[in-house]
Amino acid sequence: AKMADQNKERTFIMVKPDGVQRGLVGEIMKRFENRGYKLVACKMCTPTKAHLEEHYRDLKSKGFFAGLIEYMSSGPVVAMVWEGKEAVKMGRMMLGATNPLQSNPGTIRGDFCIDVGRNICHGSDSVESGKRESEHWFKDGEIQEWSPAQSKWVY
Ligand code: PPS
Repeated sequence: AKMADQNKERTFIMVKPDGVQRGLVGEIMKRFENRGYKLVACKMCTPTKAHLEEHYRDLKSKGFFAGLIEYMSSGPVVAMVWEGKEAVKMGRMMLGATNPLQSNPGTIRGDFCIDVGRNICHGSDSVESGKRESEHWFKDGEIQEWSPAQSKWVY
């Protein structure tokens, strides 16, 4: 049971407006699929400022907060929940460091961006924030329980 639970860890990943506008949605999703993660929720929306202020509530005191909300509400984003072993830590690793000078080539940020204020994707920083963020962006019925093992079409 423990192993099965571990394989069900979930993380909230979001392609930010610049990632959508630069046509990187497929690239980012492909990396999670290729690595072995399972998509359990996905939608495109233009978030309201109020919704983003709640999402980023821990950053309210930061000088860049207003700019971050402005940027994130400037156009559609693609919100997703990915499931699998160590999804949170691995998601962060695949995204690369927040600081562009520390995001290694091979990571999403290390391959596609140079600006901390335009860093094309977000990933939850802990299992708890993964849960909180997934519930903030998706209603109950919008997160799918599914398994490729139950497929009649893949064999
Ligand atoms: S970390 O890794 O969570 O410790 O990074 P942190 O520096 O705390 O950043 C948290 C989020 O704020 C974004 N950020 C910025 N946005 C705009 N301008 C500046 N200067 C800036 N610095 C940090 C950073 O990308 C993180 O957002 P998310 O969406 O989680 O990536």
